[in-house]
Amino acid sequence: MEQMTKSANILVIDDDFGVRESLKIILRDKYCVSTTSNVDEALVSMNVIRPEMIFLDIKMPKVNGLDFLRQMSSANSTIPIIMITAHPSIETTITSLRNGAFDFIVKPFQPAEILNVAEKALHYSIELWEKDLLVNNLRKAAQQNFFSTTEALLHAIDAKDSYTAGHSKRVSELSAFVAKELGKNESEVEVLRYSAYLHDIGKIGVGDLVLTKPSYLTQEEFQLMKRHSEIGYKIIAPIKFMEKCLPIVRHHHEWYNGKGYPDCLQGSEIPFEASILSIIDAYDALTSDRHYHKKYSHQKACEIIMQGINTQFVPTLTEKVLAIIDRYHDACIQHKRTKNP
Ligand SMILES: [Fe+2]
Repeated sequence: MEQMTKSANILVIDDDFGVRESLKIILRDKYCVSTTSNVDEALVSMNVIRPEMIFLDIKMPKVNGLDFLRQMSSANSTIPIIMITAHPSIETTITSLRNGAFDFIVKPFQPAEILNVAEKALHYSIELWEKDLLVNNLRKAAQQNFFSTTEALLHAIDAKDSYTAGHSKRVSELSAFVAKELGKNESEVEVLRYSAYLHDIGKIGVGDLVLTKPSYLTQEEFQLMKRHSEIGYKIIAPIKFMEKCLPIVRHHHEWYNGKGYPDCLQGSEIPFEASILSIIDAYDALTSDRHYHKKYSHQKACEIIMQGINTQFVPTLTEKVLAIIDRYHDACIQHKRTKNP
């Protein structure tokens, strides 16, 4: 903490040269002090120095201190801001406090007063940072717990039906690869990865006889199987951090022509990511042994999916996804050759 105190950055924003220099002299033995004479310059330098606290004059030409304080407050900034004023009024004091000012300094000020308020502000910053860290760690631990639990559920499904064992994991890995290749950002890739991992979690609510039937399903049984996307949606709905996965899990069996399930969405009504997942889900199902068919080759599986464009699968996107799957398939073959020459 001592090291952090000495390296803390302080920004002084005041149009009065004398005040800027006084604060610099008082604070420079303990802190790294930068000064600016106006808010515009301050906004530029904040991107570089990332201050741990700000001393801010209230009365300045162009943008005054209160306006800057409001800007910082509406941007949810956690940097403590200490207001400097020569003529404190009840009105400006209340406005400053309502907009999140950390403290007040009245000119002329004493060095001890400045050092005292700077120390308090810095401790506040550190406490806030530690709380954020704690909250983030707890959030990560909760997510990790959730995935360990769902992994156990997926293993339970795999154990019931050896034909679909590993399906979710493979679909998840391929979905993340496709999302990256389509130019999705890191968090979008993760959403698709998790959605793909959990897309069939609802099968836990489908009876064993239907799930493991070693032949084609009757109409009635198929109706029961179709419930899995809605059941999956209900399982993950209460989990806040899975919110973005919900539409993908729910709609991964919708068809482009509106003949899919559960909501018979068609065309652009189907969430984009759900359309990606449905192609990859079908590809993995076709290239794996199932109760009702032997696995198809990569080439044959792509041909079957191409035949479903405009009925089951979205045009243009499907060609793009298949081209990426083709590269993934080549890379896997290459990897196997390198491992077992
Ligand atoms: Fe499914």
